[in-house]
Amino acid sequence: MKIASLLILIPLLVSCSFMDRSKTVEPREISIIYSGNLDGELEPCGCSLEGDLGGILRRATILDQLRKKDSSIVTISSGGLLSNRPAEHDKLTAEYILKGFSQLDYDAIGFQWQDLAYGEEFLTADLPWVVSNWQGGFFAKVKKIRRKSVTFSFFSWLDPKQSPFQNISDKQSIVDDSTAFLVEKLKQAKKLKETTIVTTSLTLDEAKSQLPMQLIDLLISQAAYEEYGEPRWVENTLVLTPGSRGMRLGYLQIVLGAEGNIAEFSHSVIAMPQSVEDAPELSQWYSEYNQKIEENYQKEVAVRNAQRKGDSPYAGAKTCKTCHQSAYDIWKKSRHSKAYRSLSNVNKSFDPACISCHVVGYRKPGGFIASHLTKNLKNVQCESCHGAGVAHIKSKGIAPVENSTWSKEKMCAQCHTQKHSPSFQFDRYWLQVKH
Ligand code: HEC
Ligand code: HEC
Ligand code: HEC
Ligand code: HEC
Repeated sequence: MKIASLLILIPLLVSCSFMDRSKTVEPREISIIYSGNLDGELEPCGCSLEGDLGGILRRATILDQLRKKDSSIVTISSGGLLSNRPAEHDKLTAEYILKGFSQLDYDAIGFQWQDLAYGEEFLTADLPWVVSNWQGGFFAKVKKIRRKSVTFSFFSWLDPKQSPFQNISDKQSIVDDSTAFLVEKLKQAKKLKETTIVTTSLTLDEAKSQLPMQLIDLLISQAAYEEYGEPRWVENTLVLTPGSRGMRLGYLQIVLGAEGNIAEFSHSVIAMPQSVEDAPELSQWYSEYNQKIEENYQKEVAVRNAQRKGDSPYAGAKTCKTCHQSAYDIWKKSRHSKAYRSLSNVNKSFDPACISCHVVGYRKPGGFIASHLTKNLKNVQCESCHGAGVAHIKSKGIAPVENSTWSKEKMCAQCHTQKHSPSFQFDRYWLQVKH
């Protein structure tokens, strides 16, 4: 019984897609190059051949070749260009990733929370980011891509539940958690028989329950680790799973139906091994990057050397502990001792606008620079209030600490400002940290 009905179905399906195609004047065939996360990797490390399959330089070469053969090819990314666990020195790499990527001339780029690792102000490079549920005007909410007689409407959905800002009240509403706007725009696009594309870092199952799948022709779901998945149909939506770490590119050829729907597709994955040459147009960008990375490294070495020689006037709480154990124990239990983690929890440990009040001596000689260089000066410590203490220690407590003449209130006011600590009252707060 089942086999018989299948046999009837197959010729039906074939004739359906045939009829679909006969309605349109020109065959609407289009190729799409798509890619997933870069995760902060500008190039592969090259430590192993299996892993040496990507990088912006080779990607540029492949794109050049494909565009030469087919100038109508569409290039899209689902974002995730930057890393969600960046270290300070990665900021330079991130800057060059954005600069390099802007030279690849993508049509549209989706967005993931990790792209905010250094704040929105950092994303100044000229890239076609799209965040459909962003509140405010910083990003485009939809991007139209036109080729031949085809129009694509490109969207990206940033999952509010994955927001690193959920605990910061003034950032909570950074994205819209209702899909109403997306649904409305998708409906408009479908009415115009456009082909709709949505990228998201949701998994397919999550997307099915949260997004209006019936309005989406092409969904690019959460990236898999390194390798691309096989495309899958979910009803009439074609679902793609890109890879991560900047390896490989997805190559999708589609035939569109009269409604802008995807009628047929074929799919392959392009690896980018060492044999793919580096794109010459990016060589200046690349040598500049390497030069900056080296300069940065030399600077780190200089800072470490200075610290080893004991040039900093700051000692860090562990050193104070040797003579002031009880003060240390009280401090250790306070929230001051965890202030830096609070910043990394919200992806903000690289934002100079935030660091100053969550560490010791930021922007002062010998003070906090970056967590990997000045580990002992993370968090609000003794010397955030008392001032530098090395001279005091060297004198075995005879020389006063730097801020010894300050009032208690003045110490707190450095950081407990109206803007950052609206309910601050000295008496109530002091009781909690008194030692
Ligand atoms: C080698 C031991 C030693 C170390 C290490 C030390 N202190 Fe002291 N500290 C003393 C002594 C001794 C006194 C004087 C105590 C007194 O007068 O009752 C003192 C007094 C103080 C006082 C109160 C008097 C004043 O100068 O205002 C503060 C505040 C203080 N220390 C902070 C610190 C801080 C902060 C650190 C770490 C950066 C630190 N101390 C490390 C020995 C030390
Ligand atoms: C002028 C000093 C100052 C600056 C600048 C500052 N903070 Fe804070 N931050 C504070 C103080 C003070 C508190 C404690 C507030 C309170 O509980 O009254 C705090 C608390 C926090 C907390 C803990 C909130 C909680 O309830 O768990 C987070 C997270 C935080 N800040 C993030 C940031 C971020 C992100 C930035 C940059 C956008 C920033 N801070 C900039 C002083 C500052
Ligand atoms: C949030 C700010 C702040 C932090 C952090 C802080 N202190 Fe204090 N500390 C004060 C204030 C304010 C006083 C003055 C208390 C007073 O005058 O009664 C004080 C007093 C002291 C005293 C003198 C106590 C006395 O009985 O005279 C010592 C010693 C001291 N602190 C050491 C430390 C050490 C060591 C640390 C770190 C482990 C530390 N403090 C962290 C604000 C701070
Ligand atoms: C260098 C900046 C800085 C200074 C100076 C400072 N604080 Fe804080 N304080 C913070 C930050 C940042 C937090 C939030 C820590 C976190 O939760 O991550 C905080 C949190 C607190 C909290 C916990 C608040 C809560 O809601 O649980 C108390 C209490 C507090 N501070 C008291 C004081 C007092 C009293 C002084 C002055 C004697 C002082 N602080 C000086 C930065 C500072």
